[in-house]
Order: sequence, then structure tokens, then C-alpha cells
Amino acid sequence: MEVIIQKDAAAAIDLTARLICHAVQDKKDSVLGLATGRTMENLYANIVQRYDQGEVSFSRCSTFNLDEYVGLAPDHNQSYRYYMNDLLFNKINIDLEETYLPNGVAADLAEACKEYEEKITDKGGIDIQLLGIGNTGHIGFNEPLSSLASRTREKALAPITLEQNGPLFDDPKEMPKRALTMGVGTILDAKKIILLATGKSKASILAKAVEGPITSMISASALQLHPNCVIICDEDAAEELEGKEYYYRIFENEPEWQVYH
Ligand code: F6R
Repeated sequence: MEVIIQKDAAAAIDLTARLICHAVQDKKDSVLGLATGRTMENLYANIVQRYDQGEVSFSRCSTFNLDEYVGLAPDHNQSYRYYMNDLLFNKINIDLEETYLPNGVAADLAEACKEYEEKITDKGGIDIQLLGIGNTGHIGFNEPLSSLASRTREKALAPITLEQNGPLFDDPKEMPKRALTMGVGTILDAKKIILLATGKSKASILAKAVEGPITSMISASALQLHPNCVIICDEDAAEELEGKEYYYRIFENEPEWQVYH
């Protein structure tokens, strides 16, 4: 695992966007694992800007999102399908048929989850998985006690997550209490992982995930097991990391990162 600390959220977002766009230019048919949430809104705006400037093309990419609420139709303005179309897919040259999200309105949710896993495998697996981190330490919607070997499945959302995302709904009580989410095991199968965390509210949980013990109580801590995982954060989110000075030194001296300074 590597931790890259940038001075502010804009710089952390810019670096993440550059990494993703470079990867897509290197492998034009990349399979991208995508996340939603507030943190990603400016990231997608940055990627769209790079696309508009001709820096990157998504015409041969496919994408898999981490999660979707159970019971929200794709045209509901809080569904993750709506979010993705609105903030990214409708603004770049990706083939919409090649953008996948778990089907939260399927008649048979367990079957939909199984098909989702099969689809990821058919496409050759995820090249780069983008993640945020929730206040429970979740990645995707893998709430506390999610098995570290879990696959895509239906999960009940933790009260802290309902508090985190409820205000995004016109009436917070409308927020579904369940979601379909890739499992921790699904996420760990990605070839590369980038977790983006910004803001003071993420400082405590990020420190636990990165420097604490691996535990199913904080599913992001499982990223310590991944051979190619980078955490990109701003100084606010890095505030409680004990190894900060060491992480700065690695970023400054690791040849892989020279082009990103
Ligand atoms: C969303 C997702 C979640 C969010 C996390 C952080 O697809 O998988 O894990 O990344 O809840 O959300 P924000 O960015 O709103 O703090």
C-alpha cells in the first residue's frame, strides 16, 4: 500500500484523475471499477474536462460500479445509475451499453448479484478500481462485519451510512435501507486500486483503515492485503496518519511517481 498526501482536495482529485486517464491511454480497453458519493463528484468533473481537452478517450472502456440502492429505479435522481450518467457517462464517449451497475430493481436480487460477478469475469476482471471511504470504514457498501472474502450481494446499510447519505434525499426517510454491493473479495480481485479520501471528516477512519489492524469491522483495512493499492488523500484527511513523514518521503523518492510531481 502507498499513501500519497496532497496539499488539498483539488490536488488529490487532480492526481487521481491523471492516474486514471494515463491508465486508460495505456490500455484503451480498460475495465474501470467506479464509485459514487460526494468525493467523486469533482473527480468526474476533472475527468470530463480532460476528455473535453482531448487527453483521453473512453470509447473502448467498460465500467462496473461498486454499488446501487435496492429499490431505486435507474431514473430516480438518487440512484447511482442516474448519478453516473449525469456526472460522467453522458459527458464522455463511453458506450453506455458497456457501463454496468448492480441491478437494484431486479426481481431476483441474488441472481442479479451472481450475474454481476460473472460479467466482471467475462470482461477479464477490473483493471483499476476507484474507491471512496465511508464513515463506517466501508468500501462499496461493505458495512462493518462484511466478510473480507465477500462477493457481490445484498447488504443492509449501517445507521451511520443512513446518516451520511440520508440528507442527499429530498426526504431522508426515502433513502433505501439496503443496497447491492461488490464484496470486499470482489474489490480485492482488481488489478490496481485507488482510494481517494478528502476532508477532515475522513481523518479518523482513514488512519484506522491504513495503519490499524485488518478487521472486518473496517472493510477498507482489507486493502492492506492488496499488492497494488494507492491511497490518495489531502492533508485534512491525512491529519491522523502517524506515518505521514514517511509517506511524503516515499512519494518524493519512488521513481514510479516522478512524472506526477
Ligand atoms: C459509493 C461507495 C461508498 C462511498 C463512501 C464515501 O459508490 O461505494 O463507499 O465511496 O460512502 O462517500 P462520500 O464520498 O460521499 O463521502
